[in-house]
Amino acid sequence: MAVLEKLTPQEVIALENKYGAHNYHPLPVVLSKGEGVFVWDVEGKKYYDFLSAYSAVNQGHCHPKIVNAMVHQAQTLTLTSRAFFNDVLGKYEEFACKFFGFDKLLPMNTGAEAVETALKLCRKWAYEVKGIDENEAEIIVCENNFHGRTTTIISFSNDPVARKNFGPYTKGFIKIEYNNLEALEATLKSNPNVAGFLVEPIQGEAGVYVPQEGYLAKAKALCESYNVLFIADEVQTGIARTGKLLAVDHENVKPDVLVLGKAISGGVYPVSAVLANNSVMDVIKPGNHGSTFGGNPVAAAVAIAALEVVQDEKLAENAEALGNLFRSELNKFIETSSIINLVRGKGLLNAIVINDSEESDTAWNICLALRDNGLLAKPTHGNIIRFAPPLVMTKEQLLDCVHIITKTLKQFEK
Ligand SMILES: Cc1ncc(COP(=O)(O)O)c(C=O)c1O
Repeated sequence: MAVLEKLTPQEVIALENKYGAHNYHPLPVVLSKGEGVFVWDVEGKKYYDFLSAYSAVNQGHCHPKIVNAMVHQAQTLTLTSRAFFNDVLGKYEEFACKFFGFDKLLPMNTGAEAVETALKLCRKWAYEVKGIDENEAEIIVCENNFHGRTTTIISFSNDPVARKNFGPYTKGFIKIEYNNLEALEATLKSNPNVAGFLVEPIQGEAGVYVPQEGYLAKAKALCESYNVLFIADEVQTGIARTGKLLAVDHENVKPDVLVLGKAISGGVYPVSAVLANNSVMDVIKPGNHGSTFGGNPVAAAVAIAALEVVQDEKLAENAEALGNLFRSELNKFIETSSIINLVRGKGLLNAIVINDSEESDTAWNICLALRDNGLLAKPTHGNIIRFAPPLVMTKEQLLDCVHIITKTLKQFEK
């Protein structure tokens, strides 16, 4: 079938249902075009994108600078594998290391691969630098985490849907409550074999849970005092999303290992990365880790352009200002509303909590109504809707979106 053949939305959905594995439950809308903060469906209807491909499209859809970098590099050299050098990877590594303040970068493709890389790096450091006995290293993770979908990562998930019937699970992880410094300290104290603490600075998939102020800084200090690596998974929170370049920057925390993905390419190409200083990264030797596509010239060129856009267009500052405006407008609405209880978040990573049970389908129905009113968002759980628009949004557009959201929520007032 020609890709250019025009299909109706019903035909597209039927094709996916018939030939695609049912591993997602998409909102019924079929998109065919994107530009900036907008996407269009196959029938030409325009929507505000309030998900940004789970915070990958921070720079806006089809940003011309990023797309041009991709097209130019794709016409020049796409893939060499790491069997040979290519003339873009080193430039990107230098650029990104200076951008984020680390000695070295290890390039991968997806967020889950980058998390896997960080876990392997942490274990190797544990045995070769910290001196933990072989196969005894433990990594502390948090309840309700989301770090991706690989066998090891789901081994330390507590989401039954992600885990059930995928065992046997990978050992070597200790789960503690998120946002609980006492639990972290007690675990560090009683387990000399702990090598790392893997944490999301804000738990995105769990429903945009923002920890108490000071949590990250104190957790980092605890890790330092027990000689444990603080591993920040900023795949969703990084690259200006929360109003700073990284979410850990809100507390001036420098992770030992930084995990990035999604918006490091502006959502144009799968790019992920792990950054660390030499004292950690130098444990990795040829043959220890890699990926055919990791560090390919297209990825490298795209990532440089995507990071330049973040800086040139002051996206962190915009996310900070618009995020404050968004929450204050929604808080005003909450005062007179019975349909939502709470808005929470940082920068332009926010969520509303619907006044209904986790099992209800109210959040899903609200998302369908938002779609009908021209704005696309998705529940993270039964009663939580995440709002994460592209960071290139203007104040006028944001206020327009607040109007759409509040108008839609009013339809659901009892
Ligand atoms: C915090 C976090 N880590 C890792 C991942 C996995 O990224 P990917 O879907 O690119 O594998 C995600 C995806 O949502 C994420 O939010």
